Amino acid sequence: MPRLARRLLACATATTLWAGVLGAAAVTTAVVTTAPPAAALDNGLALTPPMGFNDWNAFGCNVDEQLIEQTADYFVSSGLKAAGYTYVNIDDCWMTHSRDAEGRLVPDPVKFPDGIKGTADYVHSKGLKLGIYEDAGTATCAGYPGSLGHESTDARSFADWGVDYLKYDNCNNQSDGSRQDYVNRYTAMRDALAATGRPILFSLCEWGVQNPWEWAGPIGNSWRTTGDINDSWSSMLDIAKANMPLADAAGPGHWNDPDMLEVGNGGMTDTEYRTHFSLWSMMDSPLLIGTDLRKATPATLAILGNKDVIALDQDPLGKQATVLSSDDGRYVLTKPLAGGDRAVALFNSTDRAQRIATTATAAGLPKRGSYAVRDLWQHADRQSAGSLAATVPAHGTVVLRVSAAPAAGAKALLDPPLVDTGVTGGPDHIEPGTSADVDTYVTDLGSLPATRVAVHLDAPAGWTVTPRGGTTAIVLPRGKTLTTPWKVTVPAGTRPGTYALSGTVGYRGPVGGVVTVPLAGGVTVLVPPPSGTSQLSDLDWTSATNGWGPVERDQSNGETAAGDGHPITIGGTVFAKGLGTNAPSTITYYLGGKCSALTTTVGVDDEKDGRGTVEFLVVADGTTVADSGVLTDASGPKQLQAALAGVQNVQLVVTDGGDGNDSDHADWANPQITCA
Ligand code: GLA
Repeated sequence: MPRLARRLLACATATTLWAGVLGAAAVTTAVVTTAPPAAALDNGLALTPPMGFNDWNAFGCNVDEQLIEQTADYFVSSGLKAAGYTYVNIDDCWMTHSRDAEGRLVPDPVKFPDGIKGTADYVHSKGLKLGIYEDAGTATCAGYPGSLGHESTDARSFADWGVDYLKYDNCNNQSDGSRQDYVNRYTAMRDALAATGRPILFSLCEWGVQNPWEWAGPIGNSWRTTGDINDSWSSMLDIAKANMPLADAAGPGHWNDPDMLEVGNGGMTDTEYRTHFSLWSMMDSPLLIGTDLRKATPATLAILGNKDVIALDQDPLGKQATVLSSDDGRYVLTKPLAGGDRAVALFNSTDRAQRIATTATAAGLPKRGSYAVRDLWQHADRQSAGSLAATVPAHGTVVLRVSAAPAAGAKALLDPPLVDTGVTGGPDHIEPGTSADVDTYVTDLGSLPATRVAVHLDAPAGWTVTPRGGTTAIVLPRGKTLTTPWKVTVPAGTRPGTYALSGTVGYRGPVGGVVTVPLAGGVTVLVPPPSGTSQLSDLDWTSATNGWGPVERDQSNGETAAGDGHPITIGGTVFAKGLGTNAPSTITYYLGGKCSALTTTVGVDDEKDGRGTVEFLVVADGTTVADSGVLTDASGPKQLQAALAGVQNVQLVVTDGGDGNDSDHADWANPQITCA
């Protein structure tokens, strides 16, 4: 089976998903364009981005009437309806595999005993709206009847049933691949929906294939800009980055759609989910909850129900945020709001805490002596003289709503000053069993002093943090910084990784009691190998990237899940120890100058039956110190040796040998390192 198909099968719910999902998976990156914004579809709907629920991300094909109705109930009881969530949407797999004698779609009678009509009636009785899914091809992605050539009949059914929203997918599309064909297929359903006379929000889902942001404005109320999201940081980040440059195309009635929310599904941290929700709201994206709300934690509900952040998404001006800067993965996004406010997101896409800074004027506000600033995750009002800055945790986002209205600025003078806090000045890394010096800082960004400032720093359990200077200031004047040196001790036995140092700063403004704000930072712990000779597969690496699936220990690369490889075998020889990779791959180990030599056998694993072409490199502090040359399966095992005296970091690199990474199962067999 081809690798891509096999990989996709793992996440597909039906074999018939292939054709469509292959199409979807091929598109993950949107192309930046300067095309003029598409005019809006004039159906009066989606004047702000649609908000609601869709079952696909959490349930796949397992949708039924009970789930939809319980979700509607939950919208009401949880307050999510009051927060703006309106559409309860059914995705693929709601129908039977054949049309009826009149050529109409038939809801699955087991999943929907009351039909779509009965389900819609129930949802409407709660003051909510019902969405459904179909496909602009001969079959849906899961293989149910598609609407191509049946647009009028199907639109009529949807209207008769009381459907309020149609997601229209792109699987099995029979397309000639031209943009005109896409325009034709999606226009046919737009017109069929319009002919019913029922207002039905039209959501295009062609995965960004034909740059729909350039043409879909007059056709749909939203259009997917990328392939499918999954519940991982990397998927969410890739999609966010692809959607960010498309701001010009969005506006009331016509929105970029970077796919549904994964908040609450468990594959990201709450910090990452807050970033996901912040970015989607800044980008005026549809906010379609994709988790099982009946099991949602309070943390999930607090994210999905954050009315301050929702208000950005639902702002009537309808302007998608633009990227003001993105230096080294530190993003500043700004979004103009009705009434003149600006939303500013300080988004840290990197793996370490980072300071991110801008100003109110850079964010597009007029020059004033005082700005009112609301922190939309802290739900706190502050005052700034113009600077907007914070040290943001890894993968975190600070979202501020900034007002330059003179009255707001004057009133804000009574609010506590905005402060910029964080951990700074530490070493690049710390080894377990040692100590290092870091600094905390607090800078008053307001017009008036912060008073009775007190800094607390916390570290992971078992660590110690000791202040080596003052942690308090009775008065911190505007523009001034309280810097406190701290000694951080990392206990022996700590695993390598990046650890958060977090804390709080308490202070007072001109009136009122103590306010407490978070303080973020982090340190990287690196562990050199023990003395003597060690197998690299028994040690922790600092980082590892791999072409397919994860790097495997003591087995070959199986391309998808961890642990799915086979015994490492090169040229008929089986090796008990080693690292199984797939080009392109880089594994980095910290040596701390303590090691002298590395020896290994390398080669293409026998399991791909003669296929695969790779090259193995050992790179020491940026210099290649051993190179296998290009190897194929026929090359058999090859010995490599590298001298490493004084080297801080060594990298085991595999390239694709110059011919793409098909079948490039590259084994580091019996890799051993000798250290003092
Ligand atoms: C495609 C869409 C998804 C989902 C599935 C259903 O992959 O992009 O959002 O609707 O089809 O089969």
